[in-house]
Order: sequence, then C-alpha cells, then structure tokens
Amino acid sequence: MGYESTVTSPVNIAVVKYWGKRNSELILPTNSSLSCTLSQDHLNTKTSIRASPSYTSDRLWLNGFEEDLYASARLTNCIRELRRLRKEKENELSSSDLASPENLEAAEHHVPPLSEWCIHVASENNFPTAAGLASSASGYAALVQALSNLYDLSISLTQLSMIARLGSGSACRSVYGGFVEWQAGILPSGEDSYAVSVAPETHWPTLQALILVVSDKKKSTPSTSGMSTTVKTSELFPIRISEVVPKRIIQMKEAILQRDFTKFALLTMKESNQFHAVCLDTYPPIFYMNDISRAIIKLVDLFNSQVDEITKKPKGIRVAYTFDAGPNAVIYAEKDVIKEFIELVMYFFPRGTGQTSNSFFPDPFGLL
Ligand code: DP6
Repeated sequence: MGYESTVTSPVNIAVVKYWGKRNSELILPTNSSLSCTLSQDHLNTKTSIRASPSYTSDRLWLNGFEEDLYASARLTNCIRELRRLRKEKENELSSSDLASPENLEAAEHHVPPLSEWCIHVASENNFPTAAGLASSASGYAALVQALSNLYDLSISLTQLSMIARLGSGSACRSVYGGFVEWQAGILPSGEDSYAVSVAPETHWPTLQALILVVSDKKKSTPSTSGMSTTVKTSELFPIRISEVVPKRIIQMKEAILQRDFTKFALLTMKESNQFHAVCLDTYPPIFYMNDISRAIIKLVDLFNSQVDEITKKPKGIRVAYTFDAGPNAVIYAEKDVIKEFIELVMYFFPRGTGQTSNSFFPDPFGLL
C-alpha cells in the first residue's frame, strides 16, 4: 500500500535579482524580483515522493545519494506545512469523502491517515547543482508540487509559491512558467510575499536563453550567507533597494510586455552588474564572476557594438548577459541571433575553456 507522485520543475533565471532578506526564517526578501522560467526540457529537477504506512522514517535521496532529510530546516518546514494542510483536509472530510477508496483501504488495514505516513523523496537534477544555476529553485518547486499532488491538496499556485519560498526564495518563482515577479510584500507574516505571473512563455516565444557553463564547481559563497553579509555590510545595498530596484521592476515589466528586446537587454545587464557590484561592496567582498565570466561580458559588448557592413549602421543590442551567484553566464537573445552568437563563443572559447567536470554535486537542498 502506498502513494507516489513525480513532478519535474524548471529553473528560473532572474533579470531583476533577489538579494537580501528581511526575515531569514520565513525567507522574506528585501526587494521584489523578476525572472524568466526556462523550458524544462533542458534544465530541470525531477522529484518523486512515495508515502507508505510501512515506512518508519522520512528519507531523502539527492541524485542517487542518501542525505539526512532532517539536516535541512528549510526542507522540513516545507514538508511540515504540506502535512499540516493534508491534516486539515483529513479533518474536513465529509462522511461521503470518508468512503473514498483511499480511506476505505486505510480503514480496512487499520492504518493511520496519509498525513501521518512517512515519505521517501528522491530528487535528481539534470545539471550541476549549487554552481549558481538556480538548482534550489527547481528543487524546492518540484518538492512542494510533488507532495501537494500526493496529498491531493487543491491549493492555489499562490499558496504553492509561498510554501516553495520557505525552501528557497527563488523557488517561489519556479512555480510559474514564463515571466514571473516575486512580490516582496510588506507583512511580517509573509502572507503577501509570493510570485505572480507577468506573462506566459507564449507571450515572447522568440526569446531564448543560452547557458554558458564556465564552471560546474560548487559556489564559494552560498547565496544565503552571501546575501546576509551584504545586508549587514554593503553601503550601496540600501540605495539599490530603495531607489533602483522599484523602478527597474516597473521598467522590466514594460520591456517584457512590449517585447522590447533592447530595453529588456539593457536592464538585464545593468541589473546583473549592480548585483555583482553590491557583492563586491560587501565585506568581506564576494566574487562570483571569474576571468572567463568577465571575458564573456566583453564578448557580448563586442557583439552588441557591431556595425552592418553594407548600411554602416549599428546592429544594436542583440544579446544580454546575466550572472547569478556563480561564474556561469546566462545569455538572453532572440532566436534569429542566438546561432550567430554561439559561433562567436565557440571561436573565442573552444570546448574545455571552463572549469567543468562531469561531477554533479548532489545537493539541491543546500545540505552540504
Ligand atoms: C542571485 O533563492 O538561492 O540567484 O532564499 O537563501 O535560498 P535563498 O537564496 P536563493 O537566492 C538566489 C539569488 C540569485 C538571484 C535570484 O535568483 O533572484
């Protein structure tokens, strides 16, 4: 006897970055952020959860290796919240629901309700974990959706987003596809801090993301501790939060809704630059980009400065870069440009330029 649910969730890459918490337990951010959820055909986390009355403890496997599930308060917070909702549902069951096949089977075998069964969680990334490629986002989004399905909870995407947020801030955005805003909210309870859809993926189907894996090593400063030191020490940070980000969120939404690539690209690059400037302004400073990352920025700049040979007119801004908490670049470009840019990348950075290996870090929940 048992129930199983499997969910695959995509990663999202922020174009207006979340960096800083006002409450680190509830994972409430200092600012709103905006991201693009990538197609899950390429980068994703697949999570399967099985519940059985015969299991004696909750267990977790990450990329095939068993980890201590209870070592992560964030993971247990997400599971606890979903169990609470399941319990609520069980308490609310009307007499007709009590005659459902699952309850009849449970009654027949004298087993406790589903909310009390232990679970086994197996989660796999198809990309390097903790290398600044948003693995915790897809990891927690897949976990909460899989458990919510297993518990047959009819909860809204808003609620799911809030529960995923308890695992990792950026995970609340991976609940939606397309263009997504995480509204920071102001309430101490966090009830107004969740993601909303800005536009579906179909709104701008020609916009593509290219990931340049510079290194698949685990990042030197995890996002959680990095942003906490930034909040405490950076003098640029308060200006970013009060003056820069609120305007950028509005401008970025306009750029997306108008499918204005030049505006989108300029904002994305400036936003990435400022995020890394604030990291550098942190004490001790945080360096996420390396020499190859900076060379990629130069290459994007070179590409965007090209002049048409016949008309002698600038070709314009056709490619944008953004870097999260690691050296890997995410390039945004329209579909008809991406091939030309890849050719240039392959010319300057032949395969093997970066510090990549085939070793994946089995740690989407930040346990290691
Ligand atoms: C630079 O969501 O990984 O990628 O909430 O502490 O788990 P925690 O942090 P996390 O931070 C992501 C930071 C970022 C920017 C972003 O995705 O918005």
